[in-house]
Amino acid sequence: MTTPHNGKLYIETVGCQMNMLDSELVVAALRKQGYELTGDVAAADTVLFNTCSVREHAEHKIYSALGRLKFSKQTRPQQVIGVLGCMAQKDQELVFQRAPHVDLVVGTGQLGEIPRLIAEARGTRQRSLAVSLDRREGTRMEVSNSFQSYDPLREPEMRPSPYQAFVRIMFGCDKFCTYCVVPMTRGPEQSRSPRDILLECRVLADQGVKEVTLLGQTVNSFKVTEDGKIWRLSDLLAAIHDINGLDRLKFVTNYPRDMTDDLLQAVRDLPKCARYLHVPAQSGCDDMLKKMKRGYTIGEYREMHQRLKETMPDAAVSSDFIVGFCGETDAAHEKSMDLIREMRFKNSFIFKYSPRPGTKAYGLMPDDVPEEVKKARNNEMLALQNQISGEDNAKFIGRTVEVLVEGVSKNAEKRGETDASHGPVQLTGRTMCDRIVVFPGNPRLAGSLTEIAVEDCTSTTLIGSIMTREVQHGSTSLLPILV
Ligand code: SAH
Ligand code: SF4
Ligand code: F3S
Repeated sequence: MTTPHNGKLYIETVGCQMNMLDSELVVAALRKQGYELTGDVAAADTVLFNTCSVREHAEHKIYSALGRLKFSKQTRPQQVIGVLGCMAQKDQELVFQRAPHVDLVVGTGQLGEIPRLIAEARGTRQRSLAVSLDRREGTRMEVSNSFQSYDPLREPEMRPSPYQAFVRIMFGCDKFCTYCVVPMTRGPEQSRSPRDILLECRVLADQGVKEVTLLGQTVNSFKVTEDGKIWRLSDLLAAIHDINGLDRLKFVTNYPRDMTDDLLQAVRDLPKCARYLHVPAQSGCDDMLKKMKRGYTIGEYREMHQRLKETMPDAAVSSDFIVGFCGETDAAHEKSMDLIREMRFKNSFIFKYSPRPGTKAYGLMPDDVPEEVKKARNNEMLALQNQISGEDNAKFIGRTVEVLVEGVSKNAEKRGETDASHGPVQLTGRTMCDRIVVFPGNPRLAGSLTEIAVEDCTSTTLIGSIMTREVQHGSTSLLPILV
């Protein structure tokens, strides 16, 4: 028997795009059972946390949020609290030990079971743990099978915007970089069926999605044989490109060694593909890359970057860096700074090394760079990247760019400006090379491709106004308009 509950669901998501997608799928499954989303944790009888373990800070955030709910069940005995995702898979029973009021711990490979597990927990008031096998607990096939796919369910309201959607094309990771928990939390690398992926993209296009972002931890390592045909990412992009209604295709994250020519040429030749490639370098120093077991040298990264720029001179490249990894000297850090100067990344995500239990570095390499040094290197790198991003953004001033309008900007939303009843509202969109653009306009434009004249910029944002085409005496001129 299930205890009555108010059907209100609160879900908090941290971590990467994979987690955003997983939360969308979980909410879609629960909506089918009559659940309704609320942003107020105090009003919810079902509280879920979709967690991340990539750095200690992300785990702290969730354990603190769980701490705040310690006495919540005293006033809501019917409440079910669930911890989902990467930290659930990594910490397993430890979650119950650290937060005894948690009812469910559900790993990344069991999310499809959530509706049943919640109903059971409410009925029996028993804790339940649903996780996949650890990587050493079975054969590769057994471990892979313990991470289940449940991707076809979709929930538009959970997306960044109704016009943008994520589509998973790969699960897991087999690269085992020595600092990284993802091969443990997401399991063995598996490419999904191209038939299923294409079907999902068609459904999304029918729902009005304009931009699809394909997701994989090493998305460009995608390779699968179906009906006797080998599919690589380039083949998949070409097939998705033919779907009517989609305007833009993106994919993250790329592994430098798998950036093959067929992929670069596909991106160049398929007009819907964004001219933007996220190819994390992690460090500019060969010794560090070796200790990280990244599988390439800086010479090889440089060769990949040159090939990329020769194929698409206008493409933007972004990166991730870890500062303060085990044994990183000032000279090693300086090499990362030099790489940023040389590559002029569009942007870089910079992280301070956080030792993660279960990884090779955790057991074998001392975390010997002091926190203040990590902080100083982080700030120095961020300042350099911001300077470069600002200089490169400034080159767009005076140019016209085509943006996919995403909707009302965060700042305008904060000011309560969500419709055009009092004049144009600040909108936001992205260029083909993934630069963020803000401009005044009517929120009705969300989901459309619009030309913007860039007038100003910051290091993160281009600022402009909408252009319209006006035919004058047979010639076309571009004029700024306010909609
Ligand atoms: N699959 C992606 C990255 C996944 S994790 C790739 O290989 O590029 C996202 C980023 O978090 C990584 O690129 C890395 O820069 C950072 N990261 C991963 N583990 C970390 C750790 N232990 N400490 C600090 N940053 C880490
Ligand atoms: Fe982690 Fe490396 Fe896999 Fe990326 S490629 S998810 S950094 S192990
Ligand atoms: Fe975090 Fe898991 Fe993504 S550890 S970065 S949520 S794959």
